[in-house]
Amino acid sequence: MTQKPQDVTFAIKPNQKSRAIADKQKKHIWSAVSLFYKDPVAIDKGEGLYVWDADGNQYLDFFGGILTTSVGYNHPKIVKRIAEQAAKVMHTSTLYPIKNMADLGEKMAEITPDGLDTSFFTNSGTEANEMAVLAAREYTGNHDFFALRHAYSGSSNLTKTMTAQHTWRFNSNDASGIKYTMNAYCYRCPLKLKPESCGTACAQDFENAVKTMSSGRIAGILCEPIQGVGGFITPPPDFFKIIAEIVRQYGGVFIADEVQGGFGRTGKHWFSISHWGVNPDIMTMAKGIANGMPMGNTITRAEISDCLKSEALLLSTYGGNPLATAASLATIEVLEEEAGPEHVEKMGNLLRKGLEKLYEKYSLIGEVRGKGLMQAVELVKDRQTKEPAVAELMHLFEETKARGLLIGKGGLLGNTVRITPPMTCNEDHIAKALDILDVSFAAVQKAR
Ligand SMILES: Cc1ncc(COP(=O)(O)O)c(C=O)c1O
Repeated sequence: MTQKPQDVTFAIKPNQKSRAIADKQKKHIWSAVSLFYKDPVAIDKGEGLYVWDADGNQYLDFFGGILTTSVGYNHPKIVKRIAEQAAKVMHTSTLYPIKNMADLGEKMAEITPDGLDTSFFTNSGTEANEMAVLAAREYTGNHDFFALRHAYSGSSNLTKTMTAQHTWRFNSNDASGIKYTMNAYCYRCPLKLKPESCGTACAQDFENAVKTMSSGRIAGILCEPIQGVGGFITPPPDFFKIIAEIVRQYGGVFIADEVQGGFGRTGKHWFSISHWGVNPDIMTMAKGIANGMPMGNTITRAEISDCLKSEALLLSTYGGNPLATAASLATIEVLEEEAGPEHVEKMGNLLRKGLEKLYEKYSLIGEVRGKGLMQAVELVKDRQTKEPAVAELMHLFEETKARGLLIGKGGLLGNTVRITPPMTCNEDHIAKALDILDVSFAAVQKAR
């Protein structure tokens, strides 16, 4: 670390303009859309790893617009490509061939695991997951579909139903055919077993779930390899091999939701499922795909996507539009040039080491988990009882914000910090973030 904790000073001025924006928003935008911080931060501009709020305060952003700003704010290459495309043509519709979309489809086939070679572009992760379920049902002819507990899958009726966290569900339980199997949340094992001796019983139980909750003929399962909103739950090495084997045995397909973990975020590989050695039948992606331009993609084998051809007609008005696909092509180029999976692995190791040092120092941290630049710390009042430290997390948010660092939150229990800087981060950014976290944890621990 470059500084001692006591050297990190409070930097943020009162944010009155941000507050006025938040007040207006509260009046005219659905109040269920929640905001971080007691005094919300209205971001006015960004550059690289930094953002500035409406009052001119500068923050180092270690949440990246919920893992979406994959290569930093206002990257000149992406801004240029969007501006050039906007000046030419922004929209044509999928009724006509689109060069950028065809180029991006080819690129996606190149960087995704073997066999995935046909894309359907949409505008969000929600739509990408909707299309994945539809494709799975058309291909298999089966209806029953499984999600993992603690999943977050989107904001439509179907994807909210697939979201296995009551905190995000509302009354969306009527999308039929969705069942839930256990995820390997080893820190809080649903079976109360020990990882050393459990035989990954949670994954094995998927077969019981298929036999007892479904018709026994299933369309598939959708899994986030590392659950994002769920708080970066990271299953053991054999988990997805077991799940994939069972889903295929009962007629279904294995779908990897790479909305958060894709595009090198977890280091070493372009897509996170590769850490588990499983080749998905379908993969969904969004967020980091275009550095903030709204976009989603459902990629699969032609054998699967061709099934939709015979049944009905298909379009997405905006899906694959020239502007979003220009942004995505430029984003992937920047990732390849500046922040590929090897860079993320290196930066991720640095961040992880720093967080593990904080674990040694602060008993408030119950577990550090994740891969690459997708790291989480789960906060507990006591390491024995593992009682969730929710108020302490809120306090940590205020302490880090006051020192100019933005971080994320997650987990069903609301006690997990998500740390996910843009992948173009360097050693200095990580050292600075760790310093701010260090002094902020010290302040929270002292106040208990
Ligand atoms: C894993 C995962 N899947 C799907 C979605 C839905 O994506 P979107 O909000 O773009 O619709 C999200 C959003 O956070 C997500 O984290």
